[in-house]
Amino acid sequence: MPDQVRITDVSPRDGLQNEPGVIPTEQKVELVRLLTDTGVDEIEVSSFVSPKWVPQLGDAVAVFRGVAAANSERWKVAPRQGDQPPQQPVYSALVPNERGLDALRELGDSGPTHISVFTAASETFARKNTNATVAETLERFKPVVEHARVHGLHLRGYISCAFACPFEGSIAPERVVDVAAKLINLGIDHIALGDTIGAAGPSTLRGLLDSMTARFGPIASPFRGESWDLTMHLHDTFGRAAECVKVALDMGVRSFDGAVSGLGGCPYASTPGKRAPGNISTQTLVRTIHEAGYATGVDLDRLEQAGRFAAKIVNDARLRAASTTAGGANA
Ligand code: HMG
Ligand code: MG
Repeated sequence: MPDQVRITDVSPRDGLQNEPGVIPTEQKVELVRLLTDTGVDEIEVSSFVSPKWVPQLGDAVAVFRGVAAANSERWKVAPRQGDQPPQQPVYSALVPNERGLDALRELGDSGPTHISVFTAASETFARKNTNATVAETLERFKPVVEHARVHGLHLRGYISCAFACPFEGSIAPERVVDVAAKLINLGIDHIALGDTIGAAGPSTLRGLLDSMTARFGPIASPFRGESWDLTMHLHDTFGRAAECVKVALDMGVRSFDGAVSGLGGCPYASTPGKRAPGNISTQTLVRTIHEAGYATGVDLDRLEQAGRFAAKIVNDARLRAASTTAGGANA
């Protein structure tokens, strides 16, 4: 039996957070519904961050409610005899601080079972993305960690700029290892290394994973629920992300993020004239993993269908945003 690799599709969150237009809530819910049928293990549905900072995801609570309602409608339909119940993904969201927990409390059972905190290996990026130093971000996570522990939520800790920062340039692996150690000490369940601007190549990736395993031991399997497991979150600026996936698989990584149709990018990683790059497309990610001889349980036809839908709603929103700007300019 081929080794199983865990896939998280982050398109409803990372994919939509940097778009010039706001996607209507019902279209986000439909995207999550389509992704739910693909067989991915996890869908990052949204972020409980400040709507002043990321207005594109200001409807996070409504999206979770819509997804819960859509799922309960589906479950009313009894499966036909012999039908296998579809593998149900877990739903997740970013929660940067105590205030983000309000959304979780409001949602109750309709909320995510998996949540993520996010910090960076670069002080400048942490400041621009979260208005805090790296140490301050870790301090803000403490109530989130406590909430996850009490309520049995799985907690991921993202480290952005794991290879390079759009403002500081290359980042030494020791800085990433140092932040990872602090997150692990805090009590997070697993680390996600974010290549925020798509700077990784095979040799820098090998170097970072070598440093991580030298400090924390071999990478564990996400399917065995061990502590110290690792997700690679790759953006794909130079078309090297698929190559990096193969290297990471060789080195024992069994969990990856992608966004259908390569959407995505952090708004606070954009520099003047240069928009932050999209994630590796989940379609490319899954194909690369299958070609390397691993299994994912993802149905590529359904993934393509979700990808077409995502591309369409984003393009429609871009056209709406452009016509509003042009209308404003003509007025
Ligand atoms: P702040 O301004 O320092 O927060 O923002 P504050 O505590 O001073 O509060 C200021 C106001 O914001 C208050 O409201 C708070 O209630 C409100 P007011 O009294 O002025 O009306 N507020 C909130 N509202 C809703 N939800 C919250 C929240 N927190 C405070 N959770 C904060 C700090 C972290 C909130 C802000 O900087 C923020 O929202 N940043 C988010 C940036 C972001 O989402 N970036 C993209 C995600 S990270 C990423 O893309 C990288 C990743 O993909 C990996 C990779 O690729 O590397 C994960
Ligand atoms: Mg990202």
